[in-house]
Amino acid sequence: MGSNAERMRKAVYPGSFDPVTNGHLEIIRRAANLFDKLVVLVSFNGAKNACFTPEERVEMLHKVCYDIPNVEIDSFDGLLVDYFSEHGCDIIIKGLRAMSDFEYEFQMAHINKHLCERAETVFLCADSQSTYLSSSMVKQIASLGGDISAFVPASIVGDINKRFDKERK
Ligand code: PNS
Repeated sequence: MGSNAERMRKAVYPGSFDPVTNGHLEIIRRAANLFDKLVVLVSFNGAKNACFTPEERVEMLHKVCYDIPNVEIDSFDGLLVDYFSEHGCDIIIKGLRAMSDFEYEFQMAHINKHLCERAETVFLCADSQSTYLSSSMVKQIASLGGDISAFVPASIVGDINKRFDKERK
């Protein structure tokens, strides 16, 4: 392996992505510009009941990231720092929407660093249009038959609606 200056920098952006939103995609595009390689990692959040399977979430991410060449999609059911170490990642990326995200993300960044000294977290601030946006809101709107097309990429609107259409029947 060469010196730091010539080594490829690989970042990992973990999240539930249940489902991926325009806010996530905006962070993915910006992070992909900052690093040689970006892994978008569908991860397990013990505090949340997922609506979509990890496979479905990975598939939706593939659809929305098809035009970003240095992005790889993966999933992992374990500690983020284990994936980070095993896959030679250099940085953890997180998006921050509002101050309300900060306390939880700050705690996670410290815990991850405690578990793995090398695991630094870099926070990207969400753009102003995404500050109010969350996967939970998208699911709530879709479950009540509302229009989600302003909140998620066009290529996955049908996948999300199909899930909730089935539930409403
Ligand atoms: O999109 P989310 O649900 O806010 O993402 C949270 C996530 C999945 C990134 C976080 O729960 C996580 O890192 N899960 C992997 C398991 C882990 O490493 N937990 C300890 C971190 S404190």
